Amino acid sequence: MDMNTTIRTFIEFYRERGHRLIEGSTLVPPDGDPVMFTTAGMHPLTRYLEGDPHPLGRQLVGIQRCLRTTDLDEIGDNTHLTVFQMLGSWSLGEYDGPQSLRFGLELLCEGFGLRKERLHATVFGGDEQVGPDVRSLETWYELGLPVEPTVEDNWWSNGPTGPCGPDSEIFVWTGDGRPVGTPTTDDRWAEIWNHVTMRYHRLEDGSLQPLTQSSVDTGMGLERLMMATHGVRSVFETDVFRPWLFELHNRWQPDTRSLRIISDHLRSSVVVIGDGVRPSSTGRGYVLRRLLRRGLTEMWRDDSSRTLSELSEDLIGDTLSRFGQDILPSVVRDVLVAEERKFCGLLSRGRSLLQRLYPEGRLTEQDYWYLHDTHGLPRDLVTDLVTELVGGLQ
Ligand code: SER
Repeated sequence: MDMNTTIRTFIEFYRERGHRLIEGSTLVPPDGDPVMFTTAGMHPLTRYLEGDPHPLGRQLVGIQRCLRTTDLDEIGDNTHLTVFQMLGSWSLGEYDGPQSLRFGLELLCEGFGLRKERLHATVFGGDEQVGPDVRSLETWYELGLPVEPTVEDNWWSNGPTGPCGPDSEIFVWTGDGRPVGTPTTDDRWAEIWNHVTMRYHRLEDGSLQPLTQSSVDTGMGLERLMMATHGVRSVFETDVFRPWLFELHNRWQPDTRSLRIISDHLRSSVVVIGDGVRPSSTGRGYVLRRLLRRGLTEMWRDDSSRTLSELSEDLIGDTLSRFGQDILPSVVRDVLVAEERKFCGLLSRGRSLLQRLYPEGRLTEQDYWYLHDTHGLPRDLVTDLVTELVGGLQ
């Protein structure tokens, strides 16, 4: 099942069950929104999950692009991505969590052909504020799925305050042979779908206020679902990433981990640029800059002559079209190449300054400020250069 068929199958399943399709928003939330990027499918629906009536009704379905920098250090493993697409369904006070789990299992097994024997669930086991999610536990027993209770991993919130609640996650077995263990004991269980029962609003003081209506918010990573339906072990082996892996492998032959990191960071940068963000020294632009620089550092690890100007417009265009972005690939490539040039300039200036001023690689707090204020060298870049310098001295 290719990407478009996967999306269509998901949306049609929910439409046939009375859900209306909502349009996804960009990665950039509207003005006044406290978050920097859209991080979950529910994000644009926050006020409706807190009780405002949605103009399209009480059952919704959609697909939303998301960006998460919290997982940056995990990139390179089988399942984490910086930018990804999230398939979502919502019941705004209409049906309850157990019904959502029933829909979910039906869609995974009958719609996407996954085998029940290769699925596992987790549920909220309770803490000092909220009791265990017995109804979800019983629902999984009824449906015949093995289930494991956990605490932190089964509570979802979009931030320190706001709507939140217990969730139930569905995992798929990605190992060879028969599944063994549970999601907390064997990482070959990959989480693909989260069903959250939004029942509370968390206040500043940490207390929980029950919402006037209980809603359900589900989110499934499209790339992870495709990993499961393709029967492969990593999101990088799905057809979403094939063009990236093919081109970067042919061009530069990096090792597998590097190939994944470079693909993730460059592809994510393309999408962020496609949503109108440009590299800068603050806010969203800085997130983009950091992401791109991490990608470049990885790209140059084995060969510093590699350059983003070698990326084909077809590759950039493929990503833009998968995310429905209407911007010329050449424009995106120009932004990438200009930022690469700037980074190269900073690196060579930083290297020669460090060698001249701090040949031992010992810097005080004041030195960092000096390099930043007088020479425009950001602290994290200096830290990387110091590591490089000290490594060279050993
Ligand atoms: N908000 C939940 C998540 O992002 C379910 O969509 O996992």
